[in-house]
Amino acid sequence: MIQLSHVTKTFRSGRGQVKAVTDVSLSVDTGRFAAIMGKSGAGKSTLLNCMGGLEMPDGGEILCFGTPIHRLRAGKLSLFQRRHLGFIFQRGNLLSYLTVAENIGMPLTLNGIAGKVRDDRIEALLADIGLPSAATALPHELSGGETQRVSVARAIAHHPKLLLADEPTANLDTATGQRIVQLMRDLGQDHGCTIIMATHDREITDIADPIIGLKDGQVVREEK
Ligand SMILES: Nc1ncnc2c1ncn2[C@@H]1O[C@H](COP(=O)(O)OP(=O)(O)OP(=O)(O)O)[C@@H](O)[C@H]1O
Ligand SMILES: [Mg+2]
Repeated sequence: MIQLSHVTKTFRSGRGQVKAVTDVSLSVDTGRFAAIMGKSGAGKSTLLNCMGGLEMPDGGEILCFGTPIHRLRAGKLSLFQRRHLGFIFQRGNLLSYLTVAENIGMPLTLNGIAGKVRDDRIEALLADIGLPSAATALPHELSGGETQRVSVARAIAHHPKLLLADEPTANLDTATGQRIVQLMRDLGQDHGCTIIMATHDREITDIADPIIGLKDGQVVREEK
């Protein structure tokens, strides 16, 4: 379970203080597929980043399967992220100089998974995402939808407990976007992974539960 209590994050920048997230308390049960919805600037990315330890909140608590992620120091935090978290961003985040297979294998290598186990898992993932012959392709040779399919495979390769996705379908047409979301959900379910996705897209939230609404950094409603 992911539990946030009274999480607050304020940025201090040239524009003065921006309260990106204000007193957010929520929980997502293990194995759920949650969506965070809200307009641009509502605080979706900031909240996801806090959940994954990419951003430190300035108040409140974040328990990620019992681990107080906001209190972990750098070394322990990166070990936790490497082992238990998967990230997918809006434009994918593939390394341009690595092939598709090498990108997918990256979290496996970081977790000490090598040899035939690693190779077999990459091959199975390439089949799962419908790109069995793309192993040696480079990211710039892929379409937007293909890039996001590879990003899903890479985010899930090491069977993380928590998958955080920040608008992974934002640059795709609706049909392709829905396929990516279904792929994420199916692969997540196969491995008992909890998924939290930020999105603008109303249609895509049909399959998400719970739906967490954010407005001006605050939870405005939780549906379903
Ligand atoms: N690093 C930063 N420095 C200063 N202000 C920031 C920073 N990151 C975000 N903000 C501000 O915090 C608020 C929330 O931003 P955030 O990126 O979380 O919104 P969002 O809901 O993800 O928006 P979008 O849908 O456009 O991605 C915005 O007002 C934004 O300008
Ligand atoms: Mg955002």
